[in-house]
Amino acid sequence: MDQDSFPPTHLSRAGVSLLLAADEAGVPVLHHWGAALGDLDDEALHALVAARRPGVPMSAYDARRLTGLVPETTRGYTGTPALEGHRTGGGVAAVAPRLSAWSARVEDEAGQDARVVVSALDAEAGWEVELELELSVAGLVRLRTSVTNSTEGTLHLAGVRNVLPVAPHATELLDLTGRWCRERSPQRHPWVQGTHRRDGRHGRTGHDATLLLVAGTPGFGFSRGEVWAVHTAWSGNHTSYAERTAEGECLLGGGELLEPGEVALATGETYRSPWLLGSWSDAGLDPMSHRLHAHLRSVSPLTRGERPVVANTWEAVYFDHTLERLAALADVAASVGVERFVLDDGWFVGRRHDRAGLGGWTVDPTVWPEGLHPLVSHVRSLGMQFGLWVEPEMISEDSDAARAHPEWILRGRDSTLPPTWRYQQVLDLQDEEAYATVRDALVAVVEEYDVDYLKWDHNRDLTDVARAGSPAVHAQTLAVYRLLDELRAARPGLEIESCSSGGARVDAGILARTDRIWPSDTIDPLERQHIQRWTSLLVPPELMGSHVGGPVAHTTGRSHRLAYRAATALLHSFGTEWDLTGLDEETLEELTRWTALHKRVRPLIASGTLVHPDHPDPAVVVTGLVAEDRSEAWYVVATVAATATQHPARLRLTGLDPEQAYLLTDETIPSDQHLMDLAPWWAADGSTVTGRVAEVAGVSLPVLAPESAKVLRAVARRS
Ligand code: DGJ
Repeated sequence: MDQDSFPPTHLSRAGVSLLLAADEAGVPVLHHWGAALGDLDDEALHALVAARRPGVPMSAYDARRLTGLVPETTRGYTGTPALEGHRTGGGVAAVAPRLSAWSARVEDEAGQDARVVVSALDAEAGWEVELELELSVAGLVRLRTSVTNSTEGTLHLAGVRNVLPVAPHATELLDLTGRWCRERSPQRHPWVQGTHRRDGRHGRTGHDATLLLVAGTPGFGFSRGEVWAVHTAWSGNHTSYAERTAEGECLLGGGELLEPGEVALATGETYRSPWLLGSWSDAGLDPMSHRLHAHLRSVSPLTRGERPVVANTWEAVYFDHTLERLAALADVAASVGVERFVLDDGWFVGRRHDRAGLGGWTVDPTVWPEGLHPLVSHVRSLGMQFGLWVEPEMISEDSDAARAHPEWILRGRDSTLPPTWRYQQVLDLQDEEAYATVRDALVAVVEEYDVDYLKWDHNRDLTDVARAGSPAVHAQTLAVYRLLDELRAARPGLEIESCSSGGARVDAGILARTDRIWPSDTIDPLERQHIQRWTSLLVPPELMGSHVGGPVAHTTGRSHRLAYRAATALLHSFGTEWDLTGLDEETLEELTRWTALHKRVRPLIASGTLVHPDHPDPAVVVTGLVAEDRSEAWYVVATVAATATQHPARLRLTGLDPEQAYLLTDETIPSDQHLMDLAPWWAADGSTVTGRVAEVAGVSLPVLAPESAKVLRAVARRS
């Protein structure tokens, strides 16, 4: 590719521009990712590219050097190279290719996602490379790279990473970390020179996965600042990094984290990287997330939409499965408005506790002599759908499956058994017999009970797992994707929830194949206020499960009133996970009203725009959902600590139409109000403000006790 054969390519969608152009050596450079550049004719584009050319500093290469779309050490990039590997058995053993013969194909139809496919070759070293760069109609960037071994011998890949350039005035970084029951906890720091890398080697996405890596202007918030973010859409080992070099480049990158020997390409074989998603906004994190939400809503396996209210049995009964107890739970669940009853762990052979049984997906006849039929019929007679928990990628050492097929257990590189985790091992899905057995068992149980929904769990890390001496996570991850794809093909309409010890598998790779994620095993609403807020950087609200638990949270021992628990779940895929049998009439009535309130908001949850109005007091956490046409919005105002001031600072409501007048009302379900919760100013008969006043001047909040919540509705007043 030289400049004549590859004129500058300007793609623009939804206020975002990408500008790709060849440098003087014919190497493609992504000159711009960010705000729309406007209508630029060829002359203007050439001028723009020329204006971006750097000078030649002292003690440097004598020719001008720009970092290409593929940062290459062989062209002087001294940060993390995009491509690394070496060859054995013939040819040139180079660890990094030197690409040339660049060419590009551009698809840029108005109203469609724009796409550029860039190809290049290192003929001598045998690397054939293809990059797919897309800009969606919502302004989301997607980039992935395929590498083909084009010559004799084996090409061993060490890294195939994708990067996007960020403007140097983004000097602050935000990434996320976490642990079980505290997933996606934010950490912020200045973006200094060097590489800030977040690697995940859990063999799954991980509780501590960063979810997004965000660079932004100092002090960026949910509704302020210019931000660039990337996400690696992959459920196995992965890396995300932010790199600011001494030369002056600022890049965000990511890719699969490959162990030595994990991907070895024979001649003609191809490795394709996961997508790197990139989202930009000049108005803070919320609009950045909207592009990601639009993407996930569009790639959903099923038509996204209103999610049924769930009753999950886990914290209600754990392993204590009896028809009588579960039928009674179903009765009460239906009476409070539940629409889908999900039987969690404990229904299959040998599963009386969490130390046995995984690997055989047949109903335990000692607990269910007539199979699950009596329960399923009962659930259906109450008008509810039926869902079932499974953990298909795992096997208990104490199980019929492991006793019959010890070779199905994924082992360490020297064939030793990895240490158990929750007393379980990983099923080797590359073993075709193991794979087919689990797939057929799943299809059989789903067909027999006409299961509407699977809660698909995954409760351990995969470390030191190998096949034929090579690390196995890459192939295992692809096998899981295949299993999900085949199951969905066999049962169109089956919905699947991704759970992994709570929220250890939340990524766009799994969300392309599932319909809901379980963000965390904690349903303590105080923890959930944080976890949901940060998980929603990527995940739209209707795809995020949130359950009302009992008054005392099982994972923390904290107790909260029903209003706080229910308001925290209100704007998500709502459900209960609580032994509802034996609750008094008053509590059931209150829960019924919360469920009904959720159903009122539900159409908006499935289609609306999620906002998080920034509040100066960290004790106040606000989550809002605004209808697409901005005719209506709902906000949950929650406290996560005592407010700093007697009167909490005014709340600047974002998302509303500035020109529109809105009636604000308090829609909180009345309950045993805490004596410190004083009557909100937006009394039942409401107050009217314009969207502009609500955002610019803000509205006052009621006095709120620590760990309490109010629900505010704004509805357009039509004149
Ligand atoms: C871990 C999940 O996160 C829980 O919700 C529950 O399904 C248990 N596994 C069941 O073993």
